[in-house]
Amino acid sequence: MKTEIISVKNKQNYELLDPAAKAIAEGALVAFPTETVYGLGASAFLPDAINKVFEVKGRPQDNPLIVHLAELDEIKKVAVEIPTIAYQILEQFSPGPLTVILKKGTIVPDEVTAGLDTVAIRFPENEIAKEFIRRAGVPIVAPSANISGKPSPTQAWHVEEDFDGIIPFIIDGGICDVGVESTIIDLTSDIPEILRPGIISAQDIYNKTGIQVKEYQKITDPNIKPKAPGQKYKHYSPMAKVIILETQDELGTRIEHFTKGLHEYLDKSQKDEVRIGLFLAKNFVDAIMEKKILDQINKDFSDKQIFFMISEYDSSNAAIDASHELFNQFRLFDKEQVDLIICSAEPEINQGIAYMNRLGKAADRRI
Ligand code: TXA
Ligand code: MG
Repeated sequence: MKTEIISVKNKQNYELLDPAAKAIAEGALVAFPTETVYGLGASAFLPDAINKVFEVKGRPQDNPLIVHLAELDEIKKVAVEIPTIAYQILEQFSPGPLTVILKKGTIVPDEVTAGLDTVAIRFPENEIAKEFIRRAGVPIVAPSANISGKPSPTQAWHVEEDFDGIIPFIIDGGICDVGVESTIIDLTSDIPEILRPGIISAQDIYNKTGIQVKEYQKITDPNIKPKAPGQKYKHYSPMAKVIILETQDELGTRIEHFTKGLHEYLDKSQKDEVRIGLFLAKNFVDAIMEKKILDQINKDFSDKQIFFMISEYDSSNAAIDASHELFNQFRLFDKEQVDLIICSAEPEINQGIAYMNRLGKAADRRI
């Protein structure tokens, strides 16, 4: 199959979306941008198309999909028994990077919800996404447009890496604003609960609505079934080994961990040529440069060719900036055939919870 890339980056030529909108309504799969990550779209009304989504992604059958709508009042078509708090929350945060779990309407096929009696619904804020859903004229299910297990796509070339020649259309809308998937909030239990952390935090919801939301609970016991089935899978992994560098420690201790971690890895590595990707907060990069740590490591392992690829993110806006860049960086490092990636941790509060959730699922260990 030939994949057509439709570029609508200048956001004016929306009629270019029409062939893809027609195709999706007729059962084809189309990748499109949202403000979080790119989605792999299919009509929510066509079970065959939905099955194709699972097939091309290699997605476990028990992992339900999110229904994307363009207009808030369409919610009544796909959900029932919608509580007042749902409207209070949606009024403040939709359109936007938030997904609500509600009781499912009978019109929604079981293929969408993996047999659950609840449905996930989201109203993307990205203009291209909205325009595309409107032109398709049907609700669109869209998981992130990556092969299951790989990093989620935040640019069109990421989608091309995974699905070129496999789906008929990729809509290129440039770089996603947020970079991590939507916050998922369960509104079917007495106390609303965050099932997947995103850029909208429990604190944000409380601040804007006064509604108390149970913060995301990390799932540590493998025997406990998470309420969002997707949370149990290893995810977002680049080919390289990923190590998390703790940031709770004093700078001196952190540098020590960093140096020790690199030494351990290089001692074990059988390769003569080693590529190391660093995804670190800018102030930490400055610190290791000042102390000439990388030069010293090159000296200590003079029998090896070590290449460092450094990507730094803004330390003053750390959790948001790091979330925006993480998946792109994973794919860039993979392109450079990096063996090891070291990423800074960020404090697990508000947006830092989402960043650490994604990083934690990709990582092999912490230092
Ligand atoms: O930002 C996003 O949400 C992106 C863009 C494309 O909109 N989509 C996305 O979809 O992240 P996906 O399929 O990668 O993740 C969907 C998550 C999974 O963890 C799944 O288990 C959960 O939503 N989910 C879907 N329906 C659910 C339900 N009825 N109850 C609980 N969790 C549900
Ligand atoms: Mg995903």
